[in-house]
Amino acid sequence: MTSQFIPVEPFDYVVFGGTGDLAERKLIPALYHRACDSQIIGGSRIVGAARAEMSNDEFREFARKALQEHIKEIDLNPDQVNAFLDRLYYVSVDAKSEKGWDALKQLLGDEPRVRAFYLAVGPSIFGDIAARLGEHGLIREDSRLVIEKPIGHDLASAHELNMAIGRHFREEQVFRIDHYLGKETVQNLMALRFANALYEPLWNSSHIDHVQITVAETLGLEGRAGYYDKSGAIRDMVQNHMMQLLCLVAMEPPAAIEADPVRDEKLKVLRALKRINASNVSDLTVRGQYSAGASDGSAVSGYLDELGNGNSDTETFVAIKAEVENWRWAGVPFYLRTGKRLAQRVSEIVIQFKPVPHNVFNSDAGRPIANRLVLRLQPGEAVSQMIMIKDPGPGGMRLREVALDMSFSEHFEVRSPDAYERLLLDVVRGYQTLFMRRDEVEAAWEWVDPIISAWQETEQRCKKYTSGTWGPTAAIALIERDGRTWHEEEQFD
Ligand code: BG6
Repeated sequence: MTSQFIPVEPFDYVVFGGTGDLAERKLIPALYHRACDSQIIGGSRIVGAARAEMSNDEFREFARKALQEHIKEIDLNPDQVNAFLDRLYYVSVDAKSEKGWDALKQLLGDEPRVRAFYLAVGPSIFGDIAARLGEHGLIREDSRLVIEKPIGHDLASAHELNMAIGRHFREEQVFRIDHYLGKETVQNLMALRFANALYEPLWNSSHIDHVQITVAETLGLEGRAGYYDKSGAIRDMVQNHMMQLLCLVAMEPPAAIEADPVRDEKLKVLRALKRINASNVSDLTVRGQYSAGASDGSAVSGYLDELGNGNSDTETFVAIKAEVENWRWAGVPFYLRTGKRLAQRVSEIVIQFKPVPHNVFNSDAGRPIANRLVLRLQPGEAVSQMIMIKDPGPGGMRLREVALDMSFSEHFEVRSPDAYERLLLDVVRGYQTLFMRRDEVEAAWEWVDPIISAWQETEQRCKKYTSGTWGPTAAIALIERDGRTWHEEEQFD
């Protein structure tokens, strides 16, 4: 996992949708950071491509504002900003017509160097752009295509989209981003599992009671009603981010941390997931939708008011009891939950170990609490192993639970990079380990589609939850029925 340090040759990064929201908030700031880290070298260029008419200078001005808005002042060095902006170019292109493609070709020229095409646009024009790139001879052996979710709306549309792209790019040239895979703690999960002898022997149903994966947000719709209301939490978060996390927890050790060995193992997990259908969907899943309440100390409206549509039954929360039906995980539930407008912004993976087989302590000592490993992805990336110790001081043997804590910001004095920083440069290096392969995306839909159909078939409607809480009470019941509880953040501290 040292690709960050592999030197990068000069490259051209063409960002379609270069003046859009993703480019402004994530891509331009991430590329700036990597330029400051000396990873963007020589005559490397970043080319914004979008429909709007704009000069290079106007695009540079747009990028300057994006940096001012999204980068901490302390990281904005005027010389570095100017040097970065000098690398920026702009071409006005239209995916639906011939406009701009010759100009793009001319700008890119003939010099052999890696060319990455990042489609920061809606998926409906992914196929058109891939086709235009092909028709204009812009795709070479060293060209790469980067796309992001939503990769389809269901299995059929994902398949169609993958086919449309596959007509012009070989699978080795396609980089499907799931930005959760670029998060430091997510990669740390691999380090923790496979660089320590300690965990792997215990990483199975003999020693693990259950796993919890929570991705809780306090945000609401954030102006994305058009997209979100058609997707809901299951398509927006579960089909991609949550399933990727589950795969990394559950997969077998790959032969190497390399693209195909890792993705082969993740695919096996997806295929081993117990299918959910109309007969078990109401026992294994909960759908919720937020109503008015409070978030981060301020009053907020409910989903329907935010949307301005009193009829929508789109879920903003989902909890699922999943099972990986294989030898390692038989009988170990994986409880997943994600939602908007929840009590706290926290993403974490909790590995709950089984209790000790026999308690040797007398009742004055208190009962040993089963060990728990908590990987916090955000905020404040941390790994925390809960263990039992003897309470210090006199008074005999009393057991106490404490955390062996490793907070990244306290331990390392380096800036924690945003997920996109690593992923954008991995594309240039041709390093696909942290990207989703076509069959993985489709296997995830194969599991998610029947859940959505089962909700429709059984008319399982959303349960309301007040903004600022942990979701519908049914989600608490989902885990408590099994004699377990959700790990809440208060318990972490
Ligand atoms: C995106 C979803 O993929 O991930 C958003 O579309 C969500 O709805 C976001 O808010 C969460 O990402 P992060 O990195 O803020 O946890």
